[in-house]
Order: sequence, then C-alpha cells, then structure tokens
Amino acid sequence: MNVLVTGGAGYIGSHTCLELINSGHNPIIVDNFSNSKSIVINRLQEISGKNISWFKGDINDCTFISEIIQKHSIEAVIHFAGLKSVGDSISNPIEYYTNNIAGTLSVLRAMQFNDVKRFIFSSSATVYGDASYNPVPEHASLLPFNPYGRSKLFIEEILRDLALSDDQWGIAILRYFNPVGAHYSGLIGEDPSGTPTNLMPIIGRVASGELSSLSVFGNDYPTIDGSGVRDYIHVTDLSRGHLAALNFVQKKAGIEVFNLGTGQGTSVLQLIAAYEKAAGLKVSYEIVDRRPGDIGVSYADASKANSLLKWRAEFDVFDMCRDSWNWVSNNNCNLKI
Ligand code: NAD
Ligand code: WQD
Repeated sequence: MNVLVTGGAGYIGSHTCLELINSGHNPIIVDNFSNSKSIVINRLQEISGKNISWFKGDINDCTFISEIIQKHSIEAVIHFAGLKSVGDSISNPIEYYTNNIAGTLSVLRAMQFNDVKRFIFSSSATVYGDASYNPVPEHASLLPFNPYGRSKLFIEEILRDLALSDDQWGIAILRYFNPVGAHYSGLIGEDPSGTPTNLMPIIGRVASGELSSLSVFGNDYPTIDGSGVRDYIHVTDLSRGHLAALNFVQKKAGIEVFNLGTGQGTSVLQLIAAYEKAAGLKVSYEIVDRRPGDIGVSYADASKANSLLKWRAEFDVFDMCRDSWNWVSNNNCNLKI
C-alpha cells in the first residue's frame, strides 16, 4: 500500500517508514525539515535498500499535499508532522496551533478531496495532563495544561467530529508515552535540533562527554526512589504499533484511540542505571529542584492496544538504552547536512 508519511524524516516517522517497508508497504515522505535533515532519507534508503519517494514541503500547503496524494495513489496517511516542545508551545502558542491544528486540517482536506479516508494520528500522553491514577487508561480525563497538549486534544476532537460526519473514515489516534531509543543499525535515531529538553538525549550527551552532568529534576516524588516515573517505549516498538493501527483501520471504519506504551513505569534514576549498564560507563548527575509543570508519575494502560491491535511492546529499558547509546556513540547524533 502507498502510505503518505507526513514528518517522515523525523524521529518517529523515519523509524515507522522502515517498518512500513519491512511490511511490504511503500512510504512516501513529506517533510519541511524544520526539525530534521534530508540525510535521514539517505540513511533510510541505505538501511532498507529501497528508493524512497520524498518531497520537501509544508503540510499547510493543501494543494501540495493533494497533488502528492493523487500522483502517488495514496491509500492511507500516517501523520507525524508537527511541533512537539511543551516549553516552546508555552512561549509560541500561535505557532503551535497554526502548525499542528491548521496543518492537520490541511492534510485532512487534501484527503477528503481525493476520497482517501484512512488516517493514523500522532497524539500524546500529554493530553492526560496530571492523571489522577496510573496506569492511565484511554478513558481517563483529558486535561492538558500546555498549548502543545491542547493542540493534540483539539485535533483529537476534530477527528471525532470528522468520523461522526462520515462513517467511511477509518481513524486511529495513537497516544504515545515516552519514545526513546534508536534503530539497531545506529544509522537513525533521535536527533533534536538545538538543545534537547527530554531526558534520554540529555543522558546521551552526558555519556558522550558533550555535557558534564545531568540535572535530575527532583527526588521527592512519591516513587520508588523519589525521581519522576515515566513509560519509556522503544521507538521501534512504537513504529510497529503504527503498522498494527494501519491494519486495524484498513479493516474497520470509525475512530479509536490507543495508548502506546509498555505499561511499565521507570524512574529517572533507574533509567540512568540502565544506561550506565548498557554503555559501560558512568553518567554523572546531580539532584536539583523539580522542573515546573512536571508530573511525578505517568505510565500507560496499554491493554486496549494489546488486545484490539494485537500489538505489544517487546523491548525493555536496557534495550532502549543500548540502542540509544549505539546511535550516540556512532556519532550519528547531530547528523551533518
Ligand atoms: P520530530 O520533530 O522528530 O518529527 C516531526 C517531523 O515533522 C520533523 O521532521 C519536522 O521537520 C516535520 N514537520 C514539522 N512541521 C511540519 C510542517 N508544517 N510541514 C512538514 N513537515 C513538518 O518529532 P517526533 O518525535 O518524530 O514526533 C512525531 C510526532 O509524534 C509529533 O506530532 C509529536 O507531537 C508526536 N509525539 C512525539 C513524542 C516524543 O516524545 N517524541 C511523544 C508523543 C507524541
Ligand atoms: C522525563 C523525566 C523529568 C530532563 C515530554 C513531553 C511530552 C512528550 C514526551 C511529546 C521527567 C526528568 C528530564 C532532565 C530530568 N513529547 N528529567 N532531567 O516531560 O515526560 O514528556 O516528552 O509529546 O509532551 O513533555 O519527558 O524526557 O522531558 O522527562 O530529571 O534534564 O525525566 O523530570 O521525570 P516528559 P522528559
């Protein structure tokens, strides 16, 4: 099947393109390279041995998207393109709402115009806000407390209205928890432009010597060791969840939302210990105050995806750290143009 992958040069999109190819599908990538580099596509072609069609452009250009859908006989869309920094969204809400919401509407309009109605959407556990209990199920209250999380929730509501208006749409909303790790080849991985704010890339930069020490944001949470707990999921597991969702929407019209996580919580200090074991070196850190806006504990109830999608995360935290370090230590981070 020809699948349009928006944001396909990004961290999760690139890994999903490999899984699409492994399953016999043909990904067509659209990306404006605002948070990725075109060399990633060369790497994808190197890993897969396939020539991948790709187009530089903005999802907000509906005509551009529509022409690609027509020219490549697209049958489904996996929509990764978007801005994802919570901190940036607080200082630039208009940019986030424009890029994420208007951009998604542009893609949906292009799909509707061409009668293409299979859609997989990248949502986020951020829509839950500070969930009152864990593991978090899909029916938990949706109380995001930043513009980024609200942009995801607003898009989810748009998709629910769309599905209600036309029962021909097959839509899967995938709420990712904390994607980490890298493809086992070490040729692609998380390569954030600028200074990362999320934990795993920062640990990698401390391990590689680029940063001298990690600041652990608080050790007074009600957790096993006081540090924050999250549901880290290997990016390859996450990518395979998209293939499972694609199969699901092919068979079943309507709309469903799924948590994609391991169902296990891991603390910051536990992750550091796993990374040290995987990399065979010490990761220096210091305990500092909590980060404003952080929640203490968040991990998924992934049983709905396990049963309905017949998908389950297979990699453990050691695997995630091993593959992350392989990517970092192969100096593939900060890919040169
Ligand atoms: P990423 O930034 O690596 O990938 C996003 C890609 O989209 C980038 O290549 C970027 O250049 C592209 N892009 C952004 N705006 C675009 C536009 N207007 N037109 C065309 N291309 C555009 O991010 P990622 O980590 O791969 O995340 C992919 C999706 O998953 C995002 O929607 C993100 O919100 C969501 N998500 C990510 C995480 C995470 O922790 N990484 C967690 C939950 C949800
Ligand atoms: C994880 C844990 C921190 C950095 C973010 C986005 C969310 C989603 C996933 C897009 C927390 C601790 C972190 C550091 C630390 N992305 N930490 N020192 O906050 O769970 O979620 O990524 O959808 O929207 O908000 O991930 O990696 O920032 O933090 O101690 O230097 O690591 O306090 O407990 P988070 P994170």
